[in-house]
Amino acid sequence: MGKKIAVLPGDGIGPEITAQAVRVVEALGLGIGMAEAPVGGAGYDAAGDPLPAETFKLCEASDAILFGAVGGPKYDTLPRPQRPEQGLLRLRKHFDLYANLRPAIVYPELAHASSLKAEVVAGLDLLILRELTGDIYFGQPRGVRTNEKGEREGFDTMRYTEGEIRRIAKTAFEAARKRSRRVCSVDKANVLETTQFWRDVVTEVHKDYADVELSHMYVDNAAMQLVRNPKQFDVIVTGNMFGDILSDEASMLTGSIGMLPSASLNAMGFGMYEPIHGSAPDIAGKGVANPLATILSAAMLMRYSLGQEAAACRIEAAVRKVLAQGYRTADITEPGCRQVGTVAMGDAVLAAL
Ligand code: IPM
Ligand code: MG
Repeated sequence: MGKKIAVLPGDGIGPEITAQAVRVVEALGLGIGMAEAPVGGAGYDAAGDPLPAETFKLCEASDAILFGAVGGPKYDTLPRPQRPEQGLLRLRKHFDLYANLRPAIVYPELAHASSLKAEVVAGLDLLILRELTGDIYFGQPRGVRTNEKGEREGFDTMRYTEGEIRRIAKTAFEAARKRSRRVCSVDKANVLETTQFWRDVVTEVHKDYADVELSHMYVDNAAMQLVRNPKQFDVIVTGNMFGDILSDEASMLTGSIGMLPSASLNAMGFGMYEPIHGSAPDIAGKGVANPLATILSAAMLMRYSLGQEAAACRIEAAVRKVLAQGYRTADITEPGCRQVGTVAMGDAVLAAL
């Protein structure tokens, strides 16, 4: 039976960038079915819910999800359950997409586009593995209450179960085996109980992976080391919140947040694929957004959920080719390049396929 992808463009630049990824998937000629549905603010506008029932059903009936981006100022004052981000978080939780792969690769042509010196980032190939369904993002209880002294206070709960830590640690060691066999686990064990426990469990799991080198680093130091000497890292494994922050930081090493794809996988290999950047309301609708992170996310989808390694490599090679040919969107522009908009970048990738 033909494979099916649920395409959820979302808000802001989401529809523009996913449209280019859809064209690329169609051009592969693999007969993959694709159907679109609203999510995030678009879901709220269409059905009063950031994850409408119809959208949810479409995802359940598909082999993978291609996701654009959600959020926008228009929705920031809605009650939390209706906010666009809840559509994304509910999808992650429902499908148990605990393993979030965020590779940060510096293409030779873009080394100069980084805010760091080219020699610091040239050749960088880093995998951030972010745990995606636990931590303070989902821990209960949470809320705002009035305490014993009659003062209002906000609170969230950071928590991780042993099982949650074990499975992401395994994913990290397995991934490292296909790379340079080095894992750095990032925590805040000097202060937080949850992350001391994280460190202990990762160390236990490591006993089964003696061929992989394991190191531990506090998150503040990791944030500093990422800009001091990012090439010291191979695989970074960390919790949900630290991973959110460090992956945005790592994206700038590559020149632009518009270049970073991601895959969020469950134990069965079902996955959701999305650029790590947001909906960028400031440039939405202008046709200038960089579609490459989404196109590269489609490549990851081919690889991890559809078992189409050759198609994934084709897409990645096409992206490398357009960069080598000098095509640049505004976020990675440079003197003498061929500056193009979103659709023309999609055209160039199609031509390179
Ligand atoms: C990300 C985003 C999301 C997150 C938001 C939109 C909820 O920042 O995927 O990194 O915090 O996980
Ligand atoms: Mg983020």
